[in-house]
Amino acid sequence: MAAQYDQLGDKVADWDVLPVRSEHLEGHTLFKALGSVEGQSVLDLACGDGLYTRQFKARGATRVVGVDISEEMIRGARRQEDAHPLGLTYHVADVAEMPALGAFDVVTAVYLLHYATSPEHLLRMCQNIHDHVKPGGRFVTYAFNPDFRAKGPAFTRYGITLRDYPEAPVDGQTISATLHTKSPFTIHFAHWSRSTYERALRAAGFQTLTWLLPECSPEGLRKEGPAFWRDYLDNPHAVALRCER
Ligand SMILES: C[S@@+](CC[C@H](N)C(=O)[O-])C[C@H]1O[C@@H](n2cnc3c(N)ncnc32)[C@H](O)[C@@H]1O
Repeated sequence: MAAQYDQLGDKVADWDVLPVRSEHLEGHTLFKALGSVEGQSVLDLACGDGLYTRQFKARGATRVVGVDISEEMIRGARRQEDAHPLGLTYHVADVAEMPALGAFDVVTAVYLLHYATSPEHLLRMCQNIHDHVKPGGRFVTYAFNPDFRAKGPAFTRYGITLRDYPEAPVDGQTISATLHTKSPFTIHFAHWSRSTYERALRAAGFQTLTWLLPECSPEGLRKEGPAFWRDYLDNPHAVALRCER
């Protein structure tokens, strides 16, 4: 499942402009869950081409490190670092197998956990994540919504369509989503229930888990109008989860 990002190449480059990835929605929700990173060290897992990695630095984080399984994605992140150096470092690794990179105040993972291929893989990811969070630190993730419902209005206007979404998905079932970029592409990942995520995170050592549904910022509501976002906010495709150790 993870290798698919090596094949996508430039196709993912313009997905950041889709409404579903808007700074007023995804960014707003992520940073609300995260809180301030000013003066803190951040490890950004599944960093892709570094969209949020760079934002953490811009928001005052000190040491910022990105990790992704895809060489192609890390190549893109390093290209941007070379063009506009911010002092970010990047590593290619599967989060479940990554070497020790130190202890961080904050570990983030925007769209990672649903790429776990089995409950064991999910647990290894969570254990490795926990090992990288300082005592008293936090892990904040944004992942496919385990409670997404099959029925509902078409999502194409938000830039994403869940294809043949099952009525009652079971753990490990493959979910396919098409991203409506200039050259649309489809990605595949796995459904994991809330309780499966929670079991793995608690087994890894996280104490307090807080789920946050996406919210649209006041500016986003003003720009598009509340009616535009209503269907999405009623049945969001992704949710945030804050875990404290
Ligand atoms: C949807 S992209 C998100 C990228 C970035 N977080 C963002 O929001 O722009 C998902 C990323 O997860 C990475 N990924 C999937 N499985 C992984 C794993 N086991 N370890 C590390 N990265 C993984 C993919 O290579 C891809 O870059």
